[in-house]
Amino acid sequence: MKKLTTIASVLAAAVTLTFGLSGIVQAGTSSPAAKLQAAVNHGQSLFEHSTFGGSRRIHGAPVTCNTCHQGGGRVAGRLPNGKAIPSLVNAAAIFPRYNPNLQRVVTIEMQIQHCVRGGLQGHPPGFASKPMVDMVAYLNSIAKGQPVNSGGKP
Ligand code: HEC
Repeated sequence: MKKLTTIASVLAAAVTLTFGLSGIVQAGTSSPAAKLQAAVNHGQSLFEHSTFGGSRRIHGAPVTCNTCHQGGGRVAGRLPNGKAIPSLVNAAAIFPRYNPNLQRVVTIEMQIQHCVRGGLQGHPPGFASKPMVDMVAYLNSIAKGQPVNSGGKP
């Protein structure tokens, strides 16, 4: 009887350990929240460091999103000619918007492609590509708490 009880408690301990460990792994790198955070981090890294294949340089430095949208887009930006532009903190909340120059409604993905093409002179990532998805995830992360206001002011 004692032996049976021992076996049962060893089994119980093994079960607890297994589920306990999978709980830790869940909260670690494979939970949905951790996967999303990884996408956000990758998007931020692209925003700050990627040239998207463009070879444009300003004052000797390769052009990235951060060249114009400084501080990761969290603060007011500055164009190479010194002109101030609004921060991107609510960008994810105000698209889709009507773009009078293009005379059509544009999504944030289209705006990102426009900036990669024009600002970086690089190769715009496709709409459903990982770089695009991760950059949209990043821009959404900095817009957390901003009221959804399609067509609103930057
Ligand atoms: C050379 C400067 C420059 C670079 C580099 C640049 N942008 Fe822009 N960006 C602008 C300007 C100027 C605007 C204002 C609207 C426009 O020209 O369409 C803008 C607008 C935006 C907007 C819309 C903001 C709003 O609320 O209206 C987003 C989003 C954006 N850029 C993302 C990016 C991303 C992502 C990158 C990097 C892939 C990038 N930009 C690189 C100049 C730049």
